[in-house]
Amino acid sequence: MDYKQYIAEKLHIDGVSAGEIAETIALPPNSEMGDFALPCFKFAKVLRKSPVMIAEELKNSFKTDEVIGEVSAVNGYLNFKINKVDFVQATLNLILKEKANYGSSNEGNGKTVCIDYSSINIAKPFHIGHLSTTVLGGALYRILSFLGYKTVGINHLGDYGTQFGKLISAYKRWGVKEEIEKGGIRALNELYVRFHQEAEEHPDYEDEARAYFKKIEQGDEECQALFKWFKELTLKDVQKIYDMLDIRFDSYAGESFFSDKMQPIVEELKEKGLLQESRGAQVVDLEPYGMTPCMILKSDGSSLYATRDMAAATYRKKEYDFYKCLYVVAYQQNLHFKQFFKVLELMGKDWAKDLVHVAYGMVSLEEGTMSTRKGNVVFLEDVINKCIEKAYAIIDEKNPDLENKADVAKKVGVGAVIFGALYNSKIKDIVFSYDKVLTFDGETSVYVQYTCARANSVLIKGGAPETFEVPELTDSEIELTKALANFPQTVKDAAEKYEPSYIARFAVDVAQKFNKFYIDCKILSVENEKTKNFRLALTNATCQTLQNAFGLLGIGIPEKM
Ligand code: ARG
Repeated sequence: MDYKQYIAEKLHIDGVSAGEIAETIALPPNSEMGDFALPCFKFAKVLRKSPVMIAEELKNSFKTDEVIGEVSAVNGYLNFKINKVDFVQATLNLILKEKANYGSSNEGNGKTVCIDYSSINIAKPFHIGHLSTTVLGGALYRILSFLGYKTVGINHLGDYGTQFGKLISAYKRWGVKEEIEKGGIRALNELYVRFHQEAEEHPDYEDEARAYFKKIEQGDEECQALFKWFKELTLKDVQKIYDMLDIRFDSYAGESFFSDKMQPIVEELKEKGLLQESRGAQVVDLEPYGMTPCMILKSDGSSLYATRDMAAATYRKKEYDFYKCLYVVAYQQNLHFKQFFKVLELMGKDWAKDLVHVAYGMVSLEEGTMSTRKGNVVFLEDVINKCIEKAYAIIDEKNPDLENKADVAKKVGVGAVIFGALYNSKIKDIVFSYDKVLTFDGETSVYVQYTCARANSVLIKGGAPETFEVPELTDSEIELTKALANFPQTVKDAAEKYEPSYIARFAVDVAQKFNKFYIDCKILSVENEKTKNFRLALTNATCQTLQNAFGLLGIGIPEKM
C-alpha cells in the first residue's frame, strides 16, 4: 500500500497533481504528530493563501476512512494518522510475500545504464583508493538492476600509455619471469618503482621506454606479448578481490581498446571547427564555459585520456544505446569529466546530457595516505585481509564455540570494509579505521549482521511464520514496521541520487529499531499465541528486509554469530 499516493488522491488542490502532492508528503520526525504530514507552505504561492489556512481548509474537506483514521491541521501542516493495524498487516504481508524481491520494482523498464567503475590500471597496485569506486559502482549496479534497469558494468582498464614501455624496459633489464608470475601486481609494481629510481641516474631509460611503448602501438610481437602478459597477471590478481567483494563486470574494454577508434572523433572535431592549435597541440577551447582547454592531441600526435574517453563514450552509445552512462570516479577528476562531456555536447551529441560523473571523496587509512611512485602503497587486499583477521579475533573472543568461525569472520571483515566505504555520503573524504568499522555497537555492518543473527536465532527456535494476525500494538512494533516500510522508497532514492549510503543508513535504522523491539517485547516467552506469532512474523520480515538491503550493498549476513 502506497500511503502517500493514497492520501494524495483523497486531497484536492487546484493546479497540483496527486503525484506532486504525494511527493510533498513527508514523514514527521516523531509519530506523536502523525504518521504522514503535508507541509502546506509549498502550495501557498499557487493558492495565494497562508499555509495555515490551506491546512485548515484541507482538513475540513478530508474524509477519514478505515485507512486514514485521523487528520489534524497544525501550524500549516496537515497531519495524518493511519490505521496502524491495517498498516502493519499490509506492510508485513508485502514483505513476506515478496521476500527477496521486496523493495524491487520495474521502474527501469529495461532501459540500459552503463556503469564505468573500478577501472583499474594495469600493473599498478589495486590500492585503498580504488575501494570506493569498486564498492559504490558494485552497489549501483545491483540497485539499478533491482529496479528493472539493464545494467552494463564496465571496467575501463588503464592499459594505455608510456608506463607500459617503462615496464617492458624494466622487465628486460631486471625481471625474472617466475618471480613476476608468482608476485603478480606487487612484483610488477616493484619493477615500475625501480625503473623510476634508476631512471633518475639514467635518463636514457626514459627514451628506451618511449620506444618500447611505440613498439606496442605498432604491434611489435614481443612487446605486445609482454603487455598482454602484464594485463593477464593484473586481472588475475584483482579477480581475487572482486570475488571477495562480489563484483562483476560485463566488459573490460579499456583505454587501449579505443586506440584505433579515436581518429573519427578527431576528424569530426576538425570538421565542426572545434579544434584549435595551442603550442603544437590540438585542443578544444572551453573558455566560454569557464574551463581550461580540453587537450585532444599532443604535439607529437598522440592521444590523451580525454580523447580515449570520448571514443569510449561514443562506442558505448552505439553498442548499448544507454539511457544513462555513469562514471564512478573520484572528484579529483571533476574537470576531466566536465571537459569531455562539454566537448561531446559541442559536437552536437544530444546524448552527452546522459553522461553522469558520480564523484566520490578520498579514502585514506588512519596511518596516512599513499603514492604509487614511491611504492609505499596500501594494497586493498591487505586492508581486507587485516579486517578479516581482526574480525576473527573478535569473534573468537566473544563466541569461541561458534561453528564456521572463518566463514563468519570473512563475511564480517569484508562487510566492514564495504560498509566503511558506503556508510557516508559518497562525496565525503573518509579516514578508514579498523577499530571503528568493526565496532559491534556502532553504526556498522557488524552491528547489523549481529542484529540479524540474533533475529535469526529467535526464528530458529520459534519458527518463521508467514501468516499472522495483528494484535494490539506497542510503539516499538509500529516504529519497526514503519522503518521496514521505507525500504522501497529508500532504494528508489538511492538510485536517483546515486547514494548507496541511503541503504546503509536504512539498515542501521532498522537494526536499531529491531533491537529496541527486542528489548521492549518478549517474543518467544510471551503467553498469548497470537502475539507471539505476530512478533515472529515481524522478526522474519526484519531479517528479510535487512538481507535485501545488505544484498544490494554486496555484504553477506552470517546465520549465526
Ligand atoms: N583508470 C583511471 C584512474 O585510475 C580511472 C578511469 C575512470 N574511467 C574513465 N572512463 N575515465 O584514474
